Amino acid sequence: MKVPVSLRIAALAVATTGFYTYVGQLVPQKEVHPPAEVAISKDMKPDEMAKVGREIMEGKGLCFTCHTIGKKGPLRFPDLEGVDVRAKSRVPGFSDVDYFAQSIYQPSAFIVPGFNPGMPVINKPPIGLTDDEILAVIAYLQTLGGKTTVTMQTKLPYQAGGNGQAAAGTVAPPPAGPTGGPAATTAAAPAPQNAGKKPETPQNPNPSPPQ
Ligand code: HEC
Repeated sequence: MKVPVSLRIAALAVATTGFYTYVGQLVPQKEVHPPAEVAISKDMKPDEMAKVGREIMEGKGLCFTCHTIGKKGPLRFPDLEGVDVRAKSRVPGFSDVDYFAQSIYQPSAFIVPGFNPGMPVINKPPIGLTDDEILAVIAYLQTLGGKTTVTMQTKLPYQAGGNGQAAAGTVAPPPAGPTGGPAATTAAAPAPQNAGKKPETPQNPNPSPPQ
């Protein structure tokens, strides 16, 4: 029996396509997701806040590029296991929430003994978490050795429109230029370069005895 050439070509085409489809399936498909924007809502309960806070720390917050939870040994960055216990006594007069807020909004205001400065200001670019995202992160940090007491309504002094609880540390926005409106386009110059920089104090790598 003689199979027409056209039919043989068609059969070959089908077989080839099938073969490559099969091979394609064998290659592991790795999906690349952009860092997920975690949905925040103002009426999250404390445990939901903590869950969302953990997700933010893994994603947009980039916290685990530096920090660990439960790692021992010589570390470059403070391990966060049980950090809520330490947070209550790090700065006299600060609650754990006050301390976490300061660690996030003004990381160089207090340097954890034994570590060098180097934590970025978390509400500024490139990380740029929002005030609400930071509340969720604090909710999670509190679960590391303690219990979540912040709520989505908690006012932190560093927040835009905060209640000024620690107004001394709050940076007021610069007064608007005298020209007002139209000037805003040209006045949108980048913030002073040293805005997010650490103080220029040289860090002694070897802790020296007090003088
Ligand atoms: C580039 C590295 C880096 C990243 C990213 C980073 N940190 Fe830090 N963090 C540090 C360093 C260094 C210190 C210690 C120096 C200091 O106190 O500022 C620190 C200190 C802390 C402390 C104080 C710990 C203690 O024992 O008192 C907390 C809390 C903290 N970070 C939370 C966070 C959270 C939450 C994020 C993410 C939103 C984050 N950090 C992202 C480097 C980082």
